[in-house]
Amino acid sequence: MTDAPTNEPEPQQRWSAVDRYITDLLVPADPALEAALQTSAAAGLPPIAVTPNQGKLLELLARVQGARTILELGTLGGYSTIWLTRGLPPGGRLVTLEADPRFAEVARANIARAGFGEVVELRVGPALETLPELAAEGAGPFDLIFIDADKGNYPGYFEWSLKLSRPGTLIVGDNVVRDGAILDPDAKDPLTGDTNLIRGVRRFYELLSAEPRVSATAIQTVGGKGYDGFALAIVEGEDQPPPPAAATGFEG
Ligand code: SAH
Ligand code: DHB
Ligand code: MG
Repeated sequence: MTDAPTNEPEPQQRWSAVDRYITDLLVPADPALEAALQTSAAAGLPPIAVTPNQGKLLELLARVQGARTILELGTLGGYSTIWLTRGLPPGGRLVTLEADPRFAEVARANIARAGFGEVVELRVGPALETLPELAAEGAGPFDLIFIDADKGNYPGYFEWSLKLSRPGTLIVGDNVVRDGAILDPDAKDPLTGDTNLIRGVRRFYELLSAEPRVSATAIQTVGGKGYDGFALAIVEGEDQPPPPAAATGFEG
């Protein structure tokens, strides 16, 4: 093994080719998911949705978790939203938070096209404003929370996630490695050049480490989206089965 920098074209081509191999065999094409990516690209949304095989991982995590209620932070065009919603049982509900009204409009159409218009509630606004609103309405507890909005605010998102959790809730955080930049507190995010993002993600790790109410790990990933990673945390306490969907406060 060499220590070749990960931004060399060759490893990226290999990671993308292996992602295609995995996806061709294990992730059957779905017209609604493909349309979500196409309309997102056509509308000029950044191409930063989870990859298809990562999306399927989200669906499988929702199923393993037996999730009936899911909270997502960072909708973009609704691609990961659709994957997560596929993992819900009948009667399940998903709330997704997006700051950009233009992205939210694209997402709304994509989610409706996938047949999930009645399952998904999309709230537009900065998540640090919509999360307290949700909490004040008595929303939750959510069985699975996917944190994927602006990385600089991950610490705040984690604190709100805990408030909206129950023992046994699974919290998943995307983009927690960023090409290895998380090793350096002063690193600029490799794609955005912003130092605040890496600081936010490092603080998120510190909170996961110090918080007795969660048990957490993180996994480095390579693939079509480069070198990054997922964090997983489970809220400790006596695990409770998910409550019936009708008792969650999201029956509309
Ligand atoms: N989960 C999506 C990708 C999300 S990209 C997928 O995998 O398909 C991150 C998203 O977070 C972007 O759409 C961005 O507009 C949104 N975002 C950025 N800042 C935000 C904030 N303060 N509150 C809510 N969403 C935010
Ligand atoms: C980027 C990737 C993501 O998965 C995300 O949620 C936000 C940004 C990026 O590569 O810039
Ligand atoms: Mg992401």
